[in-house]
Amino acid sequence: MTRKIVKTKFIVEDEHFEKIAEVSEDKSNVWSPEKELKIVGKPVSRYDGYDKVSGTAVYTFDVKLKNMAYARILGALHPNAQIRSINISKAESLPGVLYILTSQNCPSINWYWNTGKLFDTHTRYIGDEVACVIAETEMIAEEALKLIEVEYEILPFVTTAAEAMKTEAVKLHDWGNVTWGKPSTYSRGDIEQGFKDADLIIEEEFTTPVVIHNPTEVHCCVVNWEGDQLTVYDSTQAIFNVRETIAESLGLPNSKVRVIKKYMGGGFGSKLEAGKYSVMAALAAKEIGRPVRITMSRKQMGTSMGNRPDSYQKLKAGIKKDGTLTALSHYSYGSVGAYPNGAGCAWPLRSLYKCANVSIEEYSVVTNLGRARAMRAPGHVQGTFAFESFIDDLAEKINMDPIEFRLKNYSENDPENNNPYTTKKLKEAYIQGSKAIGWERRKAPGSDKGSKKHGIGMASQIWWGGGTPPSGAVLKLNWDGSAQIHSGTQDLGTGTYTFISQIVAEVLEIPMDNIQVIIGDTETCPYSTQSGGSLTAPSVSPAIKDAAEQMKTKLISSAAVILETTKDNIKYESGIMSLINDAEKKLTIPQVFEKLNEAMLVTTGNRNANPEGYSINTFGAHFAEVEVDTDTGKVKVIKIVAAHDIGRVLNRKTLDNQIHGGVIQALGFALLEERVVDHSTGIVLNSNMHDYKLPTIKDIPLIETIIVSEADNLISNVGTKGVGEPAHIPGAAAIANAVYNAIGTRIKDLPITPDKILMALNKKNTGAEK
Ligand code: MOS
Repeated sequence: MTRKIVKTKFIVEDEHFEKIAEVSEDKSNVWSPEKELKIVGKPVSRYDGYDKVSGTAVYTFDVKLKNMAYARILGALHPNAQIRSINISKAESLPGVLYILTSQNCPSINWYWNTGKLFDTHTRYIGDEVACVIAETEMIAEEALKLIEVEYEILPFVTTAAEAMKTEAVKLHDWGNVTWGKPSTYSRGDIEQGFKDADLIIEEEFTTPVVIHNPTEVHCCVVNWEGDQLTVYDSTQAIFNVRETIAESLGLPNSKVRVIKKYMGGGFGSKLEAGKYSVMAALAAKEIGRPVRITMSRKQMGTSMGNRPDSYQKLKAGIKKDGTLTALSHYSYGSVGAYPNGAGCAWPLRSLYKCANVSIEEYSVVTNLGRARAMRAPGHVQGTFAFESFIDDLAEKINMDPIEFRLKNYSENDPENNNPYTTKKLKEAYIQGSKAIGWERRKAPGSDKGSKKHGIGMASQIWWGGGTPPSGAVLKLNWDGSAQIHSGTQDLGTGTYTFISQIVAEVLEIPMDNIQVIIGDTETCPYSTQSGGSLTAPSVSPAIKDAAEQMKTKLISSAAVILETTKDNIKYESGIMSLINDAEKKLTIPQVFEKLNEAMLVTTGNRNANPEGYSINTFGAHFAEVEVDTDTGKVKVIKIVAAHDIGRVLNRKTLDNQIHGGVIQALGFALLEERVVDHSTGIVLNSNMHDYKLPTIKDIPLIETIIVSEADNLISNVGTKGVGEPAHIPGAAAIANAVYNAIGTRIKDLPITPDKILMALNKKNTGAEK
C-alpha cells in the first residue's frame, strides 16, 4: 500500500504546526458526496449506548482495584504565599493514613509550561498543591488534610488582569505577569489608512467572565504498579499526552507506562493535559505498594482544574456607507490564573470577514487564581461574542440587515493569506438558518410591544477542525468474520466508538455487532491524536477507512487466488466474494480463512496528509429566538437553529447530540455562567454546582440542527470535519443579538443576567444612555 513520509501542516486550537508524519497516499475508494453509503451518515444508535444506560459502562471514576488506597490533595489556603514549613505528624498518626507526599519528601519534578514544580514551595492561588494524603478511605484522607499544619509567609496578591498589568502590581513570576512577557500581536494591511478610508468609525467594549469547564465526571485517576510497569486509568482527552508527561516526570521509558481511558464524563479541554495528581498518585502507589485512586472534589474542579479566561475586548471598526469593512482593530486582555496560558480572543475578527486592514494586540495576564486551560474553542467563544455583537451594531449604524452586512463582507478565500478554502458553505448556513428561524419575522430592535418582548438574532462561526496526521489504526479480522479495530484515540462521550464501528461495517459490509472497537489504551492501540481542537473524527476516520479498505483488498486478492482468477473478476458484497461472471462461485469470509489456513488477518491504516495551499475551516451560523420579560429581566431562549458546514456527517444522531451540547453550553455562557471571586481574599465563591449556574433542563430551548455541507474530499477519503467546538462558538453571540433585538439596548458584559437587563432598560427609558 502507498505509504509516504511527508511534511504536513495542521492547526490545533489556535496554534499552527508543521509536522513530518507517515501518511497514506491511497486515493482509491474516496467516499465522494455522491456515493451512497448504507451505515455511515445514518442516525445509528450508540455503540456504547447499552453500557451507558444500563450502568455497566466503567468510567475512570468507577475503576476499583483490589486493595486500592485513596488519595486527596491539600490546596494552599492563601492566594500568594511562601511555604515556611509543613508538619504532617498529626495527620500521619490518624488511623488509616498510609502516606503523605509534600514538597519535603517528593522528588523535585518540574512541571511543564513553567507551571511550577510538582509541589512548589511558592503557592500562587488558593488550591495550589501543598500535600497529597493517601489513606484507606477517601473520608480518612479528607480528614487527614485538615490535620496537616502549614506555616505560610503570606504575600500580597492580585486577582484581576487589569490590576496585574499595572507596573506596580505584585509579580507572580520572575518574568512578570504577562505570559510570554509581551502581548501577542497580529496585523495586516495599513490600519491607519483603513480608518482614513472609512465613512464611519465605531468603537465598543465587551467583557466576558471566567467560566469553569464543570465536566460531569471530576478529574480522577487510578494507578497500579506491577513491578516497574505502571498502569494509569485516567479521565483524559489525550492518553498519549498523559503517558508522555507521566513517563517524563517519573524518568521512565514510555513503554513502562500504560494509560487507559474507556469512558469519560466530559472534558471540554480541561482534560487535555496530564494532571499533577496523576504523578502524585503514581509516586504514592510505588511507595505503599498498592493501587491508588485520586479524585478531585467538586470544589477543586472550580478552583484548580482549569477555566476559560475572562476577557476585556475593545473593538474598533472603520466602515463605508455601503457596509464595506475598511479597518478592524482589537485590543484585549484576559486573566489566565497563576501560571502561563493564552487568553487571546481576536481570531474571529482576524478571519471571519474580508477586511484588508487589521490590527490585534492581546495580553494574557497571570493572577493569583487557578490556572486557565483550553476550553471548548479557546478564545473563539469570547471573541465571537464580542465581534459578532459588534458586527450587528455596525450593520445597524448604516441601517443594513445584519445578514446582508455579513454577506457584503463575505470572504470567498481566507482573508489572511488568500488561500482558497477546501470548502466554505457559510452562505448556505445563512440561507437555510434564516429560513428555519423565520428571519422575516424579525422586527426593528426594541419595537416589540408589551412587557414580554420577542427578539431574533444570529451569529456566524469559523473554526479549524480539519484533522491531522499522524493517526493510525490496526484492524484484526478473525476467521469467523468478526473484527477488532484499534486506534489510540479516545471517546469523550461524543460518539468516537460508534463512528469507528460504522466505518468498518460500511467498508467490510459486516454487522456492527461483530465489530469490537478498542480505543483509549496506549498499550494495545497505535498512536492517534488527542481529542481536542475538534480533531478526533477528521483525524481518525480516514485511518479507520484506510485499514478497512486494505482488509477488503486483502480478502478480494485472497479470493482471487482461491478461485483462480484475478482481483478484477471478484465482486465483494455483504462479506461475500463471488465471481462477477458466475455468482455461484462464491466464498464467505470464513471460507477464505479456511482456504488460507489462517486465524487472523491484520492491516494497518493511516490518515492522509492535508492538502497544500488550502485553508481548512469549519463554518456555521446560529440563530436564536428569545423572549425577554421586561418586568423581571429574565431571558427565555425559545429556539436555536444551528446550521453547520462540517463536511460529511458520520452519524446524524451523535452529531445532533454534540450540537445540542454545544448550544446548551453556549446558552450557559450567554445567560448564566460566571466564576465569582471575592477579590479581597482571592476565594472562589461559587466552586460548587449549586452556586455556579449551569443550564438545566428547564432552560433548554427547541434546538434545530441543519447540516449544509457534503463530504470535503480535499481533506480526506471520508471528508468529515469536527463539530465539537463549532457547535459551541456562535451560540452566545446569537443569543446576545436576539436579546438586543428584543429590547433595543445592548448588554456587552456576559452573562446577560436579569439585573443587567433591568438596569439597561432603566437607563434606556430614562434616556441616560447615549
Ligand atoms: Mo478542546 S478546548 O478542543 O478540548
